[in-house]
Parts: sequence; structure tokens; C-alpha cells
Amino acid sequence: MLGRYRRGPCCAPVLLWVLLLPLAAPHRLSHHERRDRHVQDRPKLLLVSFDGFRWDYVDRVPTPNFHSIMDEGVYVEYVENAYITKTFPNHYSLVTGLYAESHGVVANEMYDLAWNRSFSMDTDSVYEPRWWDGAVPLWVTVQKAGGRSAAAMWPGSDVKIHGMYPTRYLRYNASMSFETRVERIVEWFSAPGGEAVDFGVLYWEEPDESGHSLGPQSPLMDVVIAGIDEKLGFLMNEMKKAGLYEKVNLIVTSDHGMAQLSADNIIELDEYVSRDLYTWVDKSPVVGILPKEGKLDEVYNDLADANPNMVAYRKDNIPEHLHYQHNSRIMPILLEAKEGWTIVQNRTRSFMLGNHGYDNTLRSMQPVFVARGPAFRQNYVKTSMRSVDLYPLMCHILSLRALPNNGSLSDVQDLLSPEMVSTVPVPPHSPVPPQQAAGYSYAPVVGSFLGVVMVLCFLVVYIILVTFKQRPSLKRRSWEMSQPLLQEDLHL
Ligand SMILES: *[C@@H]1O[C@H](CO)[C@@H](O)[C@H](O)[C@H]1NC(C)=O
Ligand SMILES: *[C@@H]1O[C@H](CO)[C@@H](O)[C@H](O)[C@H]1NC(C)=O
Ligand SMILES: *[C@@H]1O[C@H](CO)[C@@H](O)[C@H](O)[C@H]1NC(C)=O
Ligand SMILES: *[C@@H]1O[C@H](CO)[C@@H](O)[C@H](O)[C@H]1NC(C)=O
Ligand SMILES: [Zn+2]
Repeated sequence: MLGRYRRGPCCAPVLLWVLLLPLAAPHRLSHHERRDRHVQDRPKLLLVSFDGFRWDYVDRVPTPNFHSIMDEGVYVEYVENAYITKTFPNHYSLVTGLYAESHGVVANEMYDLAWNRSFSMDTDSVYEPRWWDGAVPLWVTVQKAGGRSAAAMWPGSDVKIHGMYPTRYLRYNASMSFETRVERIVEWFSAPGGEAVDFGVLYWEEPDESGHSLGPQSPLMDVVIAGIDEKLGFLMNEMKKAGLYEKVNLIVTSDHGMAQLSADNIIELDEYVSRDLYTWVDKSPVVGILPKEGKLDEVYNDLADANPNMVAYRKDNIPEHLHYQHNSRIMPILLEAKEGWTIVQNRTRSFMLGNHGYDNTLRSMQPVFVARGPAFRQNYVKTSMRSVDLYPLMCHILSLRALPNNGSLSDVQDLLSPEMVSTVPVPPHSPVPPQQAAGYSYAPVVGSFLGVVMVLCFLVVYIILVTFKQRPSLKRRSWEMSQPLLQEDLHL
């Protein structure tokens, strides 16, 4: 366990300490104190997403809490998120560092051609692990390395992915208030007795919902944005009250932005192609079209030049830079509306004033990003990053080996405090050999093994000495020190 946290105490000094402790031991720590102390030394990280919080909302109305994080930490002005700019794909990209085509959660509504199953974020299909198992979210990696994680409603965090739930989590319940979610997360970060979590994810549905219904240009959005800033203030305050604010690294970001729609900018597919020829899988503004057997060419030809405000791609022609092609859940035809346009079959569908999903290079699609804490620089503004870069950054902060991903630590390491940067491995992102793809290097394993062997040898010698000298034995202490930290799964 010790060795797996690369930035944690390295094997040799720890081993020396373990060896010398029974001899010296000037004051005795209780079992819990010792475990607490160990857990407290480990790096901590809380990742927060306010769904649909567009990058420029922080400058639209006073947002003192966002700005205090910027002053105390870092702010990234331009965050390129993952295509398609929808909620489920982007939340999974944030915790895996993978584009949607590689993590497999390619949309909020999906159909898997190979598997013949459908996914909708509004149904229990969300709980089928197979939709998520194409990638390993960070909380699973934390736990496999012996750490503990907590989740409050982050998409996918209540699904048994690779056989594991977060150590502590809440089953999705849209009626649970933000404040309750915060209270649970704070409680889990401050748990005593070695049960405190190392990594947490926290999700809130706003300002996305209001953005959809009001449209981002509505003056009523000002109130909504100010309300989010107050919620952030509540979180910061609860962290301060629990003594977590200076210890836990806090990242506040979002999955996407929001574009203003108009009732004049509607594309009606029924005008161009018969509904009998295809199944409509994912919805506006990037629509997945599954043509009926043998109808691919006909449907494509009907849609190709149908409307100047919509582009139709055959799957093999989807532009490379979107990284949205190589997955059996991406449909044979993809329609993409121009910014602000809506694709419907006919106008009877209910209409929204705001939406997202468009090209991820559009400014309106981009999320906010601020962060603070012991791992981050102070009062630093960075021009741009990709949201997939966050994953290797978080792994570095948590001293974990990142799984293969599409991000780059070297592109974002300037966000880190000088002390953290000096621990960035050189070269910063050398490719991980395939045999190490499980997320751990061999060195800690070898180190742990040698450590255990040495401790055992020491104990044998020590027990002999103690028995010989007829002194009370202290061996229990050193046994405890060589045990792995808690590994039990406590589900709620
Ligand atoms: C796909 O599943 C449906 C039932 O959900 C079934 O009716 C259909 O025949 C299946 N299609 C294929 C190609 O297996
Ligand atoms: C969802 O949360 C609300 C508010 O906390 C609570 O009253 C309700 O019982 C919860 N529903 C479920 C199914 O747990
Ligand atoms: C629009 O589609 C619905 C089915 O979704 C249908 O009932 C309705 O008649 C259609 N309206 C027009 C004007 O075609
Ligand atoms: C993204 O990363 C995955 C895992 O390493 C890899 O298979 C995929 O090819 C990468 N995608 C791109 C566009 O580099
Ligand atoms: Zn969203």
C-alpha cells in the first residue's frame, strides 16, 4: 500500500522507521491515531461539476466564490471538452482522460450495434456495467491502489464498474439537495479511524437545467449563476468548518457550456427523409441515425445536402479532430447542427431555448475551470487546456499511475505548485508499457515484497531477542504497520 502512492513516503525511510519504531517508540500512538495520521498525509482531491456552467458565467454576474478560488489557485480560460459536448460523455472523459470513442459512453442516448441494446440516461439501462466497462474511472483506480473514494451523484458513480462501486456513494436522486450532497462528501473526507476518503466527485444538475429552459441569454440566468456561486460558497465553508479546506485539493469545473437557440432555427428531418427508413438514436444537436437494413446510401443521400445549417457525416468521414468515430455505439450517420440550430423530426417535439452537444471547439460549448489547494499554484491564469488533460493531472496529484489516456500531464503541469512539478516524472508522459496497463508499476510491488521479507526477518530476530530477554513484546505494533490499509468496501 505505502509503495503504491508514488509520492507518499518511499519505501526505504518507511522501512527504517518500521524497523526502529519498536526499539525507540518514545510515545505510543493508538491504533486509530496511527492510521489517521497515515491517511491524513496522503494527498486529497475533490472534483466538482456544476452541469452546464459555461466558461464565461464567472464574469457575467458577481461570483465572489469562484473568484476567490481563482485568486488562491488557478483559472483556465479556454477548456476544450470532448465531442459530443453532452453530459454523460464529458463526465466520463473527466474521470478517465479518454475521448468518448475510447471510453464508450458516446452519448446520453445510445444504441450498441454489436450488442443490440439501448442506453438512455433516463432509464435503468444506466446501471448496466457494460456501458461503462470500456474504461476505468479514477475512483476505481484509487481503490485498486488501496485508497478510498466518495461520490455524490457523478454520472456513472453509482454503477458497478469493473466490479466496484466507490467506497462511499449516493445512488442517483435528483431531488437530493446540493447541500445534502456536500454534507455527505465532507463527512466522508473527514471520517476518523483511517476511513477518510482520498478522492471525491460531486455533481450538481444546475445551471444546466435552467440553461436549457431559459436559454443562456435570458437575464433570469443571472440569478441562477449567482445561486451557483452561493452553492460553491456553501461547499467552501463546509470544508473550512471541517478543517478540510487547506488539505483537500478542490477542482471546480463542468461538462459543457450552453448555446442560445431560437424557434426560427429549426431543421425538420421529415422534410428530407422518410421516418420509415431509419431509427433516430441520439437527439439534437448531434443526431445519431441508424438506417434500416440496406438503406444507408438512400438515407445518407437524402440528408447530405438537405439543409445548409446541418452537416451529415457518414461514420467513416467524421473529422479526425473530433475523435468520434471508432466505436460500435457511434451510428452509421451523424448529423450535426450549426450552433444555435435544433434538429427535430417535426415541430411537435417540445422546444428548448438552450442546448449543448455542438462542436467542442465552439466557445459556447466550453466549461469553466478553477482549482485550488496544496497541489496548485496560486493566482495563476492559464490560457487553455483540454479536459482530457485533467485525468493525468489528477493522477499525479493523487500519486497514482495513470492508465493509458488521451491527455497530457506536461500540457497542464504549469497549474501545479513548484513542489508538485518537481515530482513530475521525466519524461513527463512516457508511454506506459502494455504489461503495466493495470495501473501500477512493478517497483512498488517489488519494494513491498522486499519490505515484507525484511520486516519478517527483523521480527524473527526481534522475537528471539525479546523472548531471550523476557521483556514484554511489542511485535503487534510492527505487524500492524506492515499490514495493508483498510481494503473493505463499505457500501451505502
Ligand atoms: C435486438 O433486440 C430486439 C429486442 O430488444 C429483438 O427484437 C431484435 O430481433 C434484436 N435484433 C437483432 C439483430 O438481434
Ligand atoms: C431522494 O432524496 C429526497 C431528498 O433528500 C428524499 O426525500 C427521497 O426519499 C430520496 N429518494 C430516494 C429514492 O432515496
Ligand atoms: C409530427 O410527428 C408526430 C409523431 O411524432 C405526429 O403524430 C404528427 O402528426 C406529426 N405532425 C406533423 C405536422 O406532421
Ligand atoms: C486515446 O487513448 C486510447 C488509450 O490509450 C487509445 O487507444 C486511443 O487511440 C487514443 N486516441 C487518440 C486519438 O490518440
Ligand atoms: Zn451536462
